[in-house]
Order: sequence, then structure tokens, then C-alpha cells
Amino acid sequence: MRPIEIVKDIYCLPAIDWNIRDFHGYSTYEGTTYNAYLIIDDKITLIDTVKSAFADELLDAIGQIVDPKKIDYVVSNHTEMDHSSGLPRVMHRIGEDKPLYTSKMGLKNLSKHYTQKWNYHPVDNLGELNIGKRTLTFLETRMIHWPDSMFTYVNEDKVLFSSDGFGQHYAGVERFDDQMGDAIMPHALKYFANILLLYAPLILKLIDKVTELGIPIDVICPDHGILWRKDPGKIINAYVEWSRQAPRRKAVVIYDTMWHSTEKMAEVIVETLGEEGVHVKLMKLRTSHRSDIMTEVMDAGAIMFGSPTLNNNIFPTMGDIFTYMKGLKPLNKIGAAFGSYGWSGEAVKIINQQMEDMKFNVIDPGVRSHYIPDDDGLAACRELAKKVAQALPAK
Ligand code: FEO
Repeated sequence: MRPIEIVKDIYCLPAIDWNIRDFHGYSTYEGTTYNAYLIIDDKITLIDTVKSAFADELLDAIGQIVDPKKIDYVVSNHTEMDHSSGLPRVMHRIGEDKPLYTSKMGLKNLSKHYTQKWNYHPVDNLGELNIGKRTLTFLETRMIHWPDSMFTYVNEDKVLFSSDGFGQHYAGVERFDDQMGDAIMPHALKYFANILLLYAPLILKLIDKVTELGIPIDVICPDHGILWRKDPGKIINAYVEWSRQAPRRKAVVIYDTMWHSTEKMAEVIVETLGEEGVHVKLMKLRTSHRSDIMTEVMDAGAIMFGSPTLNNNIFPTMGDIFTYMKGLKPLNKIGAAFGSYGWSGEAVKIINQQMEDMKFNVIDPGVRSHYIPDDDGLAACRELAKKVAQALPAK
């Protein structure tokens, strides 16, 4: 690990996890990073740690700047173990009695994760801590995305340590937005769609609050991925846009199939949507990861689900995506279902119920094809696709 100086005497300590491909069920094709931060001031302060496997790397990186034992304060912005499981090793090395600042919920949650009786100092929302030439301000961001989550802001340097907020699962040699350009945005979008979408209404309120407080931000330092120093406004504006979830003239057709009948229906639907000027993505469940599907769902106005009926039910992969999608609560979607069946044919009805549960606007009872779709069955699929296209916004 190589420490990177962000502004004078404030360092990023990035543990690069090049090989992780599954982050609690989220596909990380390009790995991730766990960023800790070190501030050298009268009171040397460490902000967050890293995953336990990288704790020694972190201590080594701190040692390139200062003897770890000289750290005076530790701040824990978030309990989730990708940022806190390095704490036991770090605290053991720097001194178990060092003050550990965290939110009130952080104290509760850290105590449930670690048995050590650390010298906890719970902080209030907008509480301050003077560390010498600098003052830190703590900003509670409860439920974005855990009850303990908070940001820490360095008043004098206008640097915001934003925990998971504005992060991306990306492992690379780049550390800053100006080194990545727009190539980082798909990673930031995927992160938002899979980690933060559920909290979109809270995010809009938080951004309003920060705007109201008039807090100037020169650098945003998330705990994952690159730091935003060239244009922090870019990611803040993107969060506002993503949180609003304005529907676009885009459809995602999510399906699975047994003997290609539902697949035929899906392909005709996709072809028709394209002819109607809809930007469309076809995603087969057994070849598309749920976290990639959610990323596409984010800005789509319409979601169509196709499933064969299997044992009086939907195909099992459909159950996976409904469980995942329901939890993330996407807003402002129209929905429609289709599927092939042999004798009982419950799948379309079950999908409709799932969409109702997610508060989708289900614009049609759906299309069922008995065994292999014939010309009439495929024509019904075309009509369904046209109905969806008509219900979508012009852009
Ligand atoms: Fe990156 Fe919520 O942990």
C-alpha cells in the first residue's frame, strides 16, 4: 500500500483488493478498494480502517508517514466490516486506550461486532473535534446506508470523508477523478444502484441539508474507489439525478427460459421495442448478474419480466431477482409480464403480483403462450411491447 497525500498532511491509505469478484452478492468484476485516511496534526487522527486481511498493509502504510503508536485519535464512520474488521489489529498496535470517535449507533454496532472495551467517544450530529490546526465536524448520515453511518468533514481543508457515500467498487492505480475521467461513472452508478438506491429519498434530503448548511467541499474522500477532487459537484449532481429516478424511454426485459419458448417471446418483444424507438436491454437471468440487472433497471421506465411456469410457479431465478429488486425499491416503473406454459400457467399471474408489490404500474394482464408461441402468440407479444412503448416517456 502506498500512501497518497490528498492535501497537505492528509493522506489516503488505499488497500487495493484486486481479486475480489463477489462483494456480499454484488459482482465486482474489477475488484474494489478500502480507503482509510490519516491526518497529521497536533492530534494525529486515523479515519476508518480496512478489511482485516489488509490491516498489516495499512499499518505498514501508516508507518511510512509516522509511527502508528503516535496516532492519537481514531474515527470510525461506519461499522460494516469492510471498514472496521481491521480495527482490532490497528487498535492493538496503536494502543487499545486511544479515543475512538463514532456515532452513537456506531458505538452500539461496534460493540456488537467486537468484544474489546475500547475508549469509545460517541459524537453528536454536527459535533466537532479539534485536532490542532484543524477541526473535524461529524455529520450523521443515518441509514445511508447503516444506522451508524456518518461523514467526517475537515473544516479548514474542506475535505469530506464520506464513508460509503460517493464510492465505487473499483481496483486500479488511479486515485482521483481527474485520472479516470468519465470511465469511473459506470462504477459509481452500479454502486449507487446496488447499495444506495433503497435510500434515495434520504440521500436527496441529506444533499438538501448540506446545501442549506452551505458546507463548501473541495475533495470528497469515499471509503471505496477514487476520490473526487477535480469536480466533486459532478458526483453530487449525479446522486441527485439517480435519487430522483426519473423514468427514461428505456426498457429492461428480464427473462429465463426452459425450452426457448419464453426466450422467443422475449426476443420478439425486444425487437418491437427497438422498432418503437425504445432503448432496450435483454437480460437472461442465468447469464446476467443481479447487480448488473439492477444497474440497468435504475434509469429504465419499463421493466418486463418473462418466465416459464415451472411446477405451478415462476422459474427459480425469477425468485432471486424479485427478492433482490424488492429490497432496493426502485421507483417510477411500468411493468408487464409474459411467459410460456404447459398446463397450469401461473407464472404471469405471480409476476404481476410481484410487480404490484413493488408498486410498479402494471399496464397489461400480460401474455401467456401455450407451449411454443405460434404466430398469434408472437403477435400478442408485439402488441404488449407496443403498449409498453406507448406508455414510456418520449425520451
Ligand atoms: Fe463499504 Fe457499508 O461498507
